Amino acid sequence: MLHGIRWNGVLAATLPRSMADTLTKLAYQALQQGKSLVGVAHKEVSTKLMELVAPQGAPKTRPIPPQMLMDLQAAHTALMNIDWEEAEQGLYPTALLFDAPWLDWAARYPMVWLDMPSTWNRRSERNVTDLPADVESENYPDYYLQNFHHQTDGYLSDHSASLYDLQVEILFNGTADPMRRRVIKPLVQGLRAFAERPASQLRVLDVATGTGRTLRQVRAALPQAQLVGLDLSSAYLRQANRWLSQLPDELPQLVQGNGESMPFATGSMQGVTCVFLLHELPGEARQNVINDCFRVLEPGGVLVLADSVQLADSPQFETAMDNFRRVFHEPYYRDYIGDDIEARLSAAGFSGIRATSHLMTRVWSATKP
Ligand SMILES: C[S@@+](CC[C@H](N)C(=O)[O-])C[C@H]1O[C@@H](n2cnc3c(N)ncnc32)[C@H](O)[C@@H]1O
Repeated sequence: MLHGIRWNGVLAATLPRSMADTLTKLAYQALQQGKSLVGVAHKEVSTKLMELVAPQGAPKTRPIPPQMLMDLQAAHTALMNIDWEEAEQGLYPTALLFDAPWLDWAARYPMVWLDMPSTWNRRSERNVTDLPADVESENYPDYYLQNFHHQTDGYLSDHSASLYDLQVEILFNGTADPMRRRVIKPLVQGLRAFAERPASQLRVLDVATGTGRTLRQVRAALPQAQLVGLDLSSAYLRQANRWLSQLPDELPQLVQGNGESMPFATGSMQGVTCVFLLHELPGEARQNVINDCFRVLEPGGVLVLADSVQLADSPQFETAMDNFRRVFHEPYYRDYIGDDIEARLSAAGFSGIRATSHLMTRVWSATKP
């Protein structure tokens, strides 16, 4: 069962359909506004506190121009609208819009605060390789062995994995899942190439699945498909397993590995997704991941990538992109926002490349001929 409020079921049983839909939409909008307020308030308070307690590490951000604030608000509204519309179109259940482990997050929220002083320390000392002592570094590429976002333990501990979802939720003011859900439509459309096959024979791989939030969205849209998640972090995969095993459907298979050379047979997947990975890779690794996604897809299969918007498609958000890089340790972000992902997809052999932007996320889809 999806976490959250089962508005639809309860309301539909007691009210005419159109009224139930209107109330559900209002509830969704109110929830998103609430998440947005909490995210903004959290960031305001934590920034002020850092300026007070650890001023030497406080990031020097640029002020957001008023026009950009208006553009962000408009893009936020557009994201909520498309999220609602695609649920209405039946691409995924409306209940997914309310899906979050609320009680769990509430319990973990104090840990986010308790973790902050060590984050501030690392930032002040410009220490970006503060990783657990028992990490076997030879098992990971060099670029991975860092504290991305100044995160305690990088991606390499259960502690880090237990806070990640909540931290991302706060970072994106509650829009992380609405942005992740934008992969669903191009994925479902791409899988129509295999419409003659039983749904249970379709394999969809999520590269860099982390704690499995994208797999959770995809599972709601494709209840019968075989889902596979790959990530370099066993701690994040353990957390993904905890969340995903709460769902009643078939368990996704979770595999530890490098997206640059994945332990899957050539042509063994019909769909591949990859969300919020590319900006954390140096250019060469970015191309390797795209190449390996091409390799594991069956001809006709679809790749859907989602990551930060870039300078070429969203120049109006340049200050926000620059501030992101100033606040968080994101060593490859500056290179990423100027990178030509479409050229990389073409170089790998993909065709039918399309891209759309949703708030701070760019979504590319492409087909293996
Ligand atoms: C920003 S997180 C995104 C996680 C998830 N896709 C999401 O939407 O929350 C980046 C993830 O990429 C993983 N990662 C980084 N480099 C990788 C690589 N070369 N191969 C596989 N996973 C990688 C990290 O362990 C982390 O879980």
